[in-house]
Amino acid sequence: MFELKDATMIYDIDKEEKVYAMKNMDLKLPDTGFVGVIGPSGSGKSTMMYTMSTLKRLTGGDIIYNGESLNNISENRRRELRREEFGFVFQRHYLVSYMTAVENTILAATCNVKEAKAKAEQMLLDIGIKKSELDKVPGKLSGGQRQRVAIARAMMNDPKVLFADEPTASLDHENAFLVMDRLKEYSKKRLVIVITHDTSIIKDADIKVEVWDGKIAAVTGGIR
Ligand SMILES: Nc1ncnc2c1ncn2[C@@H]1O[C@H](COP(=O)(O)OP(=O)(O)OP(=O)(O)O)[C@@H](O)[C@H]1O
Ligand SMILES: [Mg+2]
Repeated sequence: MFELKDATMIYDIDKEEKVYAMKNMDLKLPDTGFVGVIGPSGSGKSTMMYTMSTLKRLTGGDIIYNGESLNNISENRRRELRREEFGFVFQRHYLVSYMTAVENTILAATCNVKEAKAKAEQMLLDIGIKKSELDKVPGKLSGGQRQRVAIARAMMNDPKVLFADEPTASLDHENAFLVMDRLKEYSKKRLVIVITHDTSIIKDADIKVEVWDGKIAAVTGGIR
């Protein structure tokens, strides 16, 4: 489904001090499974996620997603992919402060409101949010609860690919485990890509991608 071909990303390309965030990356990923991307700070993990999910455009090479060249398609098509096929979990939750957990979850839902609400409630309960917390605004939830709402929101439209950048960074061990468990379950039918510094989080990933200094240093498992 995903193929990185000589994928290169240079920040500040027009300036003297160029930053080579991705250097000639080659990688193939299947349609489903749990992919862990690991590497030190500044190695290019987030940049990889931003370019694969069309939030940023490569400066060289290409990324093929289901036969489409992400570099050659229009901004409209890129937006459509983000809305319809990709889900995002960031380190920060980016919830809307005046909306409840349920309202935040259905914010970008593509189905009708009634259906979305029922689905959101079930997803939130499944991920360990209590019934009494469903109508709370983010300010009245704990950090771990907020992150779980963000994960439910990311899964709302059943994305084909779920991108998660340090999804457990703000969570305690128990909540981190719960979130990873949920993501792993989701990866049985879809592709889940999790970026982390923490090897323990991705120890049972189907594919492990090690990134060093903008390069793919090693791939364990998966398609070569
Ligand atoms: N918007 C930007 N403009 C210029 N340079 C950037 C920008 N974003 C990232 N970089 C640089 O690109 C390189 C890769 O950054 P990236 O955020 O992808 O790393 P990372 O592996 O996600 O790190 P971390 O684990 O700290 O989140 C770093 O050297 C960083 O300083
Ligand atoms: Mg990062």
